[in-house]
Amino acid sequence: MQKSSKTPSRGQWGSSFGFIMAAGGSAVGLGNIWRFPYITGQNGGGAFVFVYLICVLLVGLPLLLNEVALGRKSGKNPVGAIKETGGSRFWQSSGVLCVVVCFAVLSYYSVIAGWTIGYIFTELINIPIDFEVFIQTPHYVIPLCMLFILMTVIVVLGGISGGIEKAAKFLMPLLFIIIILIAARAVTLPGATKGIEYYLSPDFSKINGKVILSALGQAFFSLSVGWGLMITFGSYLPKDNNIIKSSAWIAGMDSTVALMGGLMIFPALFALLPGVSPDEGPALVFNVLPRVFDQIEPFGNIIGGMFFLLLLVAALTSSISMLEVPVAYFIDERKWSRKRAAWTLGIGAMFLSIPSSLTAVKGNFFNVMHISFFGRDIVGFFDLMDFFFGTLAIVIICLMLSLYSGWVKNIKTFAAELALGTTSFEGLPQKAWIFFIRWVCPIVIILVILNMVGVFGE
Ligand code: PHE
Repeated sequence: MQKSSKTPSRGQWGSSFGFIMAAGGSAVGLGNIWRFPYITGQNGGGAFVFVYLICVLLVGLPLLLNEVALGRKSGKNPVGAIKETGGSRFWQSSGVLCVVVCFAVLSYYSVIAGWTIGYIFTELINIPIDFEVFIQTPHYVIPLCMLFILMTVIVVLGGISGGIEKAAKFLMPLLFIIIILIAARAVTLPGATKGIEYYLSPDFSKINGKVILSALGQAFFSLSVGWGLMITFGSYLPKDNNIIKSSAWIAGMDSTVALMGGLMIFPALFALLPGVSPDEGPALVFNVLPRVFDQIEPFGNIIGGMFFLLLLVAALTSSISMLEVPVAYFIDERKWSRKRAAWTLGIGAMFLSIPSSLTAVKGNFFNVMHISFFGRDIVGFFDLMDFFFGTLAIVIICLMLSLYSGWVKNIKTFAAELALGTTSFEGLPQKAWIFFIRWVCPIVIILVILNMVGVFGE
């Protein structure tokens, strides 16, 4: 019955592999290769990696399953999914938030993706580049960012199986090959062992509240959970698809790539730039790695070019999915054509990306603007977007969706959706999932929100 309410033009995944590649492609992004290593560096190395993996398993994965179940059950975008399952306007607002978050994050995510396009060329042609100067040059950064959004629009215009699935099936394996090559080079550099040790042997005394909460935030960002993305992608799944298996693959792929991301960066960093501290922050990849590639003989610049190509591929498979969430909303709920939705939202994101691009330019209005939020000073347009949309809104969505499935609706119907197409979800796994959605996820998320608004201090 639910199927008949779907718009015929919605589309469906051509195969299970295609879905796993597309959803895995969404999960694997700048979050794994750019964000994960620098957050790990800021949170003490191995201990953070350990806590992160636990967060993925205990909170991220149950929420991922919850979103996919909601999507496939309803066959709709995040707003439609809650409407279709009988949710009130209040709960539907979490779906609206998903649509807004994806659009907003797309605008600044593309800025960083634009930088990677610039770096592919500077590496390949082997011209030295000063990160600070580069990001402060609007006539490089703005067109590159727009070019990236244009690439995203072109794929989304192709639709589900023709555009997104086709691109992901080609791009994801390419990404794996490049990562393995670079990680293999990094760990075999003389002096790499120190970095491997820093990265993989946890010092448990470094675990504290801040480390745990950073790990959780990173898990949501990286798994693409809390964005309605998995609802949207789940809605294109046929009923006989084994969601449990597909989701395990997605979470596994995402964690593997994040782990490999660190394995590319820390051994190389310790081996080649022993004076540079791993807690360099967001500039880690852009500032430090080109210097690392310079020192790799031979073919350092080719490896560098490959690295940034890899980052671009990862960013593109994520941005495609970010644009698809609002596009699906306008197709389902507002009856727009895919073409109209993709172009309108893409061009809108281009405009919204300009203040984020200008944030790097010292003294610019968007660079100096700041607001205070519960004692936290947020400086610059980019950080403002990242805090309110890329961080706070996500955890609120995760909380609302777990309360919705766990308490407002009968959670057994979602468990039954997950059980379709598999026998491995009977008994204990099902009971465990229900327990996690009803209790563990909401409690942990409330702690995260309290921390974000500064209840536990800095
Ligand atoms: N998971 C992506 C990353 O790691 C970010 C993303 C979130 C993409 C949500 C799409 C939707 O970079």
